[in-house]
Amino acid sequence: MSISERPSMSVDEVIRRRRSVRGFLPREVPDPILREVFALAQWAPSNCNVQPWVPHVVSGETLTHVRDALVAAGMRDEPIKPDWPADGKFSGVYRERQVGAAQALYGAMGVARSDSVGRKLAYIRNHAFFDAPHAVFIFMPEPFDTREAVDLGMYAQTLMLLLTARGIASCAQGALGLFPDIVRAELGIPATQKLLFGISFGYEDSDVKANAARVDRAPIDDVVRFHR
Ligand SMILES: Cc1cc2nc3c(=O)[nH]c(=O)nc-3n(C[C@H](O)[C@H](O)[C@H](O)COP(=O)(O)O)c2cc1C
Repeated sequence: MSISERPSMSVDEVIRRRRSVRGFLPREVPDPILREVFALAQWAPSNCNVQPWVPHVVSGETLTHVRDALVAAGMRDEPIKPDWPADGKFSGVYRERQVGAAQALYGAMGVARSDSVGRKLAYIRNHAFFDAPHAVFIFMPEPFDTREAVDLGMYAQTLMLLLTARGIASCAQGALGLFPDIVRAELGIPATQKLLFGISFGYEDSDVKANAARVDRAPIDDVVRFHR
């Protein structure tokens, strides 16, 4: 798609169409489209308009280096060292939803629950950006914390919707935030910049089994409380 072709999906359609894609074609997103998407994502809202996000977009040779370093860390079972704790604290309905998402994904991939090697290799695909030609690591400077992390979430969804509207698939990945020292070293980023997560993006490879996975959402009556 050339930059002059305006996306024509409605907001509703873009929201419905965005989903996590975990298998990409090698074809890169043209530079003008990349720049357009990141320019528009700047319009995400933030507390006091501080715009605390610091996205580092990696492609080409740089992506290969970062990917190799992350895959190597995953394969040698290097202990994670995230900038914020990443311990799972899901219980009750949240645990059910987590298990449901895992079942949908591993089921689509044909990886059994008992297949620990298959599960590990499937997980390490996170570190390989699911073969995407681009990834963005989203940092924020010290001493920002929970409040500013909210703004990074707003930014990330804005970015993913802009991509979706242009036929570009993506997957937000907490897994890309578990080895921040490796990412900082590879990209020459100072330790005062803290990493929350990353997003792999590019054009979907619909032949990848993982991309057949679909997850649902809780009905609003289970979630939203209207007060009058
Ligand atoms: C902050 C965040 C972190 C995520 N981390 C991962 C991840 O590390 N690996 C992965 O495969 N998916 C990850 N996901 C994708 C979620 O599993 C996905 O958004 C959820 O299951 C809903 O599915 P959908 O995006 O297809 O609608 C993450 C999503 C978000 C928002």
